[in-house]
Amino acid sequence: MSEIILKKWYDAIREAQSVESIEDIRISVFGKKGVLAEEFAKMKTASDEEKSKIAQELNIHKNELMNELNSRKIVLQTVELQEAMKAEAIDVSLFSSQSQAGALHPVIETMDRIVEYFSSMNFAIKTGNMVEDDFNNFEALNLPKYHPARDMQDTFYFKDEMLLRTHTSPVQIRTMMGTKPPIRMIAPGAVFRRDYDITHTPMFHQVEGLLVDEEGKVSFANLKYILEDFLKYMFGDVKVRFRPSFFPFTEPSAEVDISCVFCSGDGCRVCSKTGWLEVLGCGIVDPNVFEAVKYKNVSGYAFGLGVERFAMLIHQIGDLRSLFEGDIKLLEQFR
Ligand code: DAH
Repeated sequence: MSEIILKKWYDAIREAQSVESIEDIRISVFGKKGVLAEEFAKMKTASDEEKSKIAQELNIHKNELMNELNSRKIVLQTVELQEAMKAEAIDVSLFSSQSQAGALHPVIETMDRIVEYFSSMNFAIKTGNMVEDDFNNFEALNLPKYHPARDMQDTFYFKDEMLLRTHTSPVQIRTMMGTKPPIRMIAPGAVFRRDYDITHTPMFHQVEGLLVDEEGKVSFANLKYILEDFLKYMFGDVKVRFRPSFFPFTEPSAEVDISCVFCSGDGCRVCSKTGWLEVLGCGIVDPNVFEAVKYKNVSGYAFGLGVERFAMLIHQIGDLRSLFEGDIKLLEQFR
């Protein structure tokens, strides 16, 4: 390998000003069709004796060039990194003329709207406790020890019969234990279950409702009226239907469906071709619940709903978990 060629490449390496140009040099020297490959190819015509001499020499040059190239590359990488850090540095004390307005999280926004409706109907807002005891979360709600809702699969338990509330229904109990009837309350808040898939997260939000008055004063018709009105307030012009169902704390109980907001009731993937979406559970308060809180001569209705489900239907969000990932791109759409 001639001195001139060697000098040319050493100079090129020393003078290279970017990692990119170093990479170009690497390809020109060490690549398949590079200078060294060319030099090695020339060996073919040499005698055996010469061959080993040329090979030895070329290998020495190869190693030296490689060392030179690598050390220049490290220098340039360091310089480029420092420049990038300087260029991208953020001075958080600077005033920005482009500050963007934030937005409420879709779950909070939906919860606010639900609360707004019931506040306007004179329902008081109660919060209760997220860490609950067995009595408030289960026993007093007519969910006896053997009830499947107490399954270890569903409930996060602490020691001494304490747990993370699995629904907002215990706020009914706490409110009735602390106040005399009549009662008109809703309880918005977080609840917890051991569940995780596209329609379940271990923490989600519910709004519970309870109305209690003198015996004979509260009917299923009252419940039906307010829930229909509420669902139209939330979803606009939808059809509402009540289906008989079962909850331990209400008798009779119903599940409430609205006509599918995606296909207007024609049947689609979201409503499993039924044209209906289940949105609520409700019923007339079971006498056993009143007995547990020592209420006498009263009647009442109760209901409970999942806030995330409402938010998903209102905003047409497919995966419940995406609501809790804090992805700015998703959240920005709600500004
Ligand atoms: N607590 C129920 C749940 O978590 C929801 C519910 C259904 C609440 C019916 C009620 C009710 O007050 O009457 O699934």
